Amino acid sequence: MPHRYTGLVEAYRNRLPISAEARAISLGEGNTPLIELDNLVRDVGFGGRILVKYEGLNPTGSFKDRGMTVAVTQAVDEGARAVICASTGNTSAAAAAYAARAGITALVVVPDGKIAAGKLAQAVMHGAVIVQIEGNFDAGMRLVKEVGETSPVTIVNSINPYRLQGQKTAAFEIVDALGAAPDYHCLPVGNAGNITAHWIGYTEAIGQGTPACAFCAGDCRAPHPAMTDRRPVMLGFQASGSAPFMRGGPVADPDTVATAIRIGDPQSWEPAHVVQKESGGWFDELSDEEILDTQAKLAEREGVFCEPASAASLAGALRDIKRGKIADGSTVVCTLTGHGLKDPEIAMRGALDHIVKVPAERGAIADLLAKKMA
Ligand code: F0G
Repeated sequence: MPHRYTGLVEAYRNRLPISAEARAISLGEGNTPLIELDNLVRDVGFGGRILVKYEGLNPTGSFKDRGMTVAVTQAVDEGARAVICASTGNTSAAAAAYAARAGITALVVVPDGKIAAGKLAQAVMHGAVIVQIEGNFDAGMRLVKEVGETSPVTIVNSINPYRLQGQKTAAFEIVDALGAAPDYHCLPVGNAGNITAHWIGYTEAIGQGTPACAFCAGDCRAPHPAMTDRRPVMLGFQASGSAPFMRGGPVADPDTVATAIRIGDPQSWEPAHVVQKESGGWFDELSDEEILDTQAKLAEREGVFCEPASAASLAGALRDIKRGKIADGSTVVCTLTGHGLKDPEIAMRGALDHIVKVPAERGAIADLLAKKMA
C-alpha cells in the first residue's frame, strides 16, 4: 500500500484537541530520526545509550513546526486571518511558513540584532511582516501579549496551548521508537514550553494527565491507552548568561551565544517546575564554551549538525554522565531542537582554520590527503 506521511495533525488527530473536520495546515512535520550516538558513547566510556531526537529535520529546521501545525490548524479553523509571535528566530520562521501555507498573515516581532541569519532569511522568504524592536525577546513577548488583547490576531507563541499539544507528539514518537520511555530526557530550556510539552506527551503515554497540561490540568477524563509504563527524568539546560531557572527568577539582561534561548523571563515558569518535581529532574546551566564545544564534537564525531542552543541538551547530558548524576547503563534521549544551518555565522567562525588554500594541482591534493591519513 502506498503511504505518504502527511504530518502530525493527521498522524495524531485522535490525541490532539482539534475538531475532526479541521483542515490540517501541514508541511509534513514530525517523524524525525532518533539517532544513536555510538562514537560519543564510546569516547566517554558510557555503559548506556545516548540518542538524539533530531528536530532540526523538521520542514523549517526546528521543533517549532510541531507546535505550529497544530496552532495554525486551530487558528484557521476558528477563522483567524493573522497570527503574531515574538521570537528569537525559530518560532518566527515556523509561523511565517505555516501562515504562508494557510494563506494568512504572519507578523513576527524579533529582537534588535542577535537573531541568527538563517532564521531571519526564512521569515523574509515566507513573506512575514517582520518587526524588529529596540529590545530583547522578553520585551517582544510583553508587546505581543498586549497586541493580542486588543487586535484580531492569534498569538502563536507557546502560551498558545495548542503549540504544546503539537510539541507533545515528540514524546510519542520516542516511546514508539524505543518501545518504552527513556530513563532521562534532556532539553535546552528558553521559555520552557518544550520541556512542558514533552512532559504532557510522556504523561499521556502512560495513560494519565498532568497539571502542566492546560487542557486537562491533570484531570484527564478521556485517557488514551498507555503506550509505556514509565516516564523519564526530565533535565532542562540553560546557558549561564541566560539562566533564570538557576537564578530563581527573571534575568534582566540575558546574553548567550545560543541566541535561540536568550530569554530572561520564561513564559512556562510554573509548568516547568511541575515537570521538574513530578519527574524528579533538575535544571542546570552551561557556559557558552561548553555549548559550542559540544556542538562541534557532535558534528565532527557523529555527522550531526545542530544549532548552538540545541547542543546544550547533549552538553548537559555528557557532563551529568561524567559526574555520575546520570546512572551508568541508562538510556538518555537529548532533543536537538534546531538545525545547525540556522546559524551559519557561528559555524563559520572557525572556518579559516579548516580551509587550506593550495594551487589547483593534483599533487597538492595528494600531499594533503597523505598527510591527513598518516
Ligand atoms: N532550542 C531552540 C533551537 C529554540 O529555538 C528554542 C526556543 C529553544 C530551544 C527553547 O525552547 O522556549 O520551549 O524552552 N525558541 C523560541 C523562538 C523562543 O522564538 O524561536 P523553549
